[in-house]
Amino acid sequence: MKTTAILLCCSLLLQAIVEVISFTVFLHKRNRVSHVVLLATEEEESGDESRRYRDQAEQLREQIRAMEAELGPTRQRSYSPPKQEELEPEDLEMSLRGKRILVAGANGRLGSMVCRYLLRNHPQTEVVAAVHYVGENSPTSRGYGRLSYEVGAEDGVGSLGPAWSEERDATFTYDPEVMQNYNLQNLRLVECEFLDPVQCATVAEGCDAVIWCATDFNGNLPRAVSGLNVAFLFRAVASPDKGRVEVEGLQNMLGALRQAQLDKKRQNQFSSDFFSKAKGGSDPINFVLVSTDANAFKNTETPFGSFYGIKQRGEDLMKEEFPSLTSTVLRLGRFDDNFVAEDLPIEMTDAADDSAGQERLINRRDAARAVVDALTNESLVGKTLNVWTKAR
Ligand SMILES: NC(=O)c1ccc[n+]([C@@H]2O[C@H](COP(=O)([O-])OP(=O)(O)OC[C@H]3O[C@@H](n4cnc5c(N)ncnc54)[C@H](OP(=O)(O)O)[C@@H]3O)[C@@H](O)[C@H]2O)c1
Repeated sequence: MKTTAILLCCSLLLQAIVEVISFTVFLHKRNRVSHVVLLATEEEESGDESRRYRDQAEQLREQIRAMEAELGPTRQRSYSPPKQEELEPEDLEMSLRGKRILVAGANGRLGSMVCRYLLRNHPQTEVVAAVHYVGENSPTSRGYGRLSYEVGAEDGVGSLGPAWSEERDATFTYDPEVMQNYNLQNLRLVECEFLDPVQCATVAEGCDAVIWCATDFNGNLPRAVSGLNVAFLFRAVASPDKGRVEVEGLQNMLGALRQAQLDKKRQNQFSSDFFSKAKGGSDPINFVLVSTDANAFKNTETPFGSFYGIKQRGEDLMKEEFPSLTSTVLRLGRFDDNFVAEDLPIEMTDAADDSAGQERLINRRDAARAVVDALTNESLVGKTLNVWTKAR
């Protein structure tokens, strides 16, 4: 009797175990099926999404083509790469002919002058002017007003009828004769937040060189402090490791240009066009980094480190992390447009050998000339130079 009871218990236990196992297997199978169904739905959804984005991109391209066709020859740039038979020996030297140059910080005191100098002195060069924000002024950026004024986009001929006359109308028209040498057709304005690597990659696409004039400092003071700007102050406190255009922004742009150069090399490899292959030899210096002469300002402390410490970090990272790009650092003297005449000879000294220890000045127009001319001066590759003019 006892043995029968034990046997019965054992068989019930065995049955329960079998039930549990088969239920677990059932659950597992069901989960797998639902997982597969889920994956299939996700795939379908992502397929739909990518198809939708592709269609949208195609529609946008179509719109751009239609707009360009409407604009006709007026928007045609004044340069086109020369044909093989037109190639001159100088085309194989460093040159800005047929090149696309990106100016970072194009609405700044220096950047706007750099754009002006490039447009007026290199009519066969496309200038991509990267400003922080193209809309109206905002708490953390200043539109493109300075750039537009400096390049002459606001020049024109105005007339104003006297208040007592019947014809009191005011008119303002562009004068093609005045503006013909401004070469505004070669200027492309783009908006870019340099702290965002994706935006940097987009604006650097197809560029041959970058002139870096962006900064988070007003002189030697962080803009947050000099402008008592709450938005900047908040940014500085909220993320003390970020927001330094001189380091993170610079790094993003260097990475973007390196990628653009790699893409160009790849394209040239597959190109049968002789000029695009030959063009490699004529490339300008890839990156001109504008920095500050050690005697231009007093050093100041910021939440991220000292002013000159931050500048130095930017210079070091360019040399150490981006050796494949040809680059030069120009440490400019303090800008002075009131007491320093323009068109003076540019003085340059290797920063490592410079023991002058005195404040030196430069007019912004001469600073812009020095920076642009550096692009095609092969002897400056890899150097860090102090740049100024003698006051007059
Ligand atoms: N000022 C001098 O006397 C002097 C002397 C020697 C060397 N330097 C050096 O020369 C360079 C240019 O100075 P500057 O006086 O021309 O400077 P600036 O007038 O302040 O111009 C800097 C530009 O950078 C832009 N910018 C800042 N952060 C940005 C971001 N996150 N994304 C996109 N754009 C951003 C600013 O745009 P928004 O204003 O729209 O934000 C501004 O247009 C700096 O490296 C400076 O240290 C200046």
